[in-house]
Amino acid sequence: MKRFEGKTILVTGGAGDIGLATAKSFASEGAKIALVDIKGLDGAVAQLQSFGTKVMGFGCDVTSYESVDKTVTEIVEEFGSIDLLFNNAGIQGEFEMLHRYPVEDFHRVIEVNLIGAFHVLRAVSAHMVKQGGGVIVNTASMAGVDGPVNMAAYGASKFAMIGLTQTAAKDLAPFGIRVNSISPGFMGPGFMWDRQVDLQASVGSQYYDSDRSVVVKQMIGAVPLRRYGLIEEIPPTVMYLMSDDSSYITGVNIKLSGGI
Ligand SMILES: NC(=O)c1ccc[n+]([C@@H]2O[C@H](COP(=O)([O-])OP(=O)(O)OC[C@H]3O[C@@H](n4cnc5c(N)ncnc54)[C@H](O)[C@@H]3O)[C@@H](O)[C@H]2O)c1
Repeated sequence: MKRFEGKTILVTGGAGDIGLATAKSFASEGAKIALVDIKGLDGAVAQLQSFGTKVMGFGCDVTSYESVDKTVTEIVEEFGSIDLLFNNAGIQGEFEMLHRYPVEDFHRVIEVNLIGAFHVLRAVSAHMVKQGGGVIVNTASMAGVDGPVNMAAYGASKFAMIGLTQTAAKDLAPFGIRVNSISPGFMGPGFMWDRQVDLQASVGSQYYDSDRSVVVKQMIGAVPLRRYGLIEEIPPTVMYLMSDDSSYITGVNIKLSGGI
């Protein structure tokens, strides 16, 4: 018996590393997949087709509530319901010391990671309330647990994501909707790992060397398990939180951090 047979999951950031890997895991357990991203989704949809469940891509910028609301309506029309939400789209923003942090970038990161995530939560939960239940997992970050250096906007957005998760869990509990978050630490290989190593090296702060290969050692050296997490190590936790195995868990943040 596949765990998510008959369920539809909406995955934002579905063209990205974590979104696509998670969508694949859910498809392998029978879920129908609605991918949402600002980037083209044809490649991701093609990769999911071999699982034999329904899969569709929806272009949408989560910073526009109008666009999110329209997309959610389209998905409900196409799939009949949205049972599960992986609210995962996000950007890292610039890497810079606080006193030099680009103001426009701070606004942009909050706009995507926090306001965008709220838009998706707002629109999907309104549907789930009508439907009589659902499960939501938000992607926060270890940057939302312990303030990261040179990442003021990202850290602030992810702290807020964990707070939003706690409030959403309380507000939506009466409607049979559970809401939790995951906080990955250093994960790779992938776009965000490469980018953060390069950019931390370029900041010139006291925390990281300017040589990329030294930065890798510094980051891994801060992880008790002494390696970065694999992207594929994330979906099993999302699936646990979405399944009935976690039926009494809501409002928690699970750290996938190798012990950080
Ligand atoms: N990879 C890591 O090391 C790591 C660690 C902790 C948390 N995270 C979080 O995991 C999530 C996924 O990250 P990833 O590693 O897969 O990165 P990624 O860049 O591969 O994927 C992020 C996706 O979000 C999409 N996106 C960005 N802005 C959007 C917008 N306005 N509207 C719709 N879609 C938008 C991007 O196009 C991209 O496909 C993010 O929220 C990120 O902050 C990642």
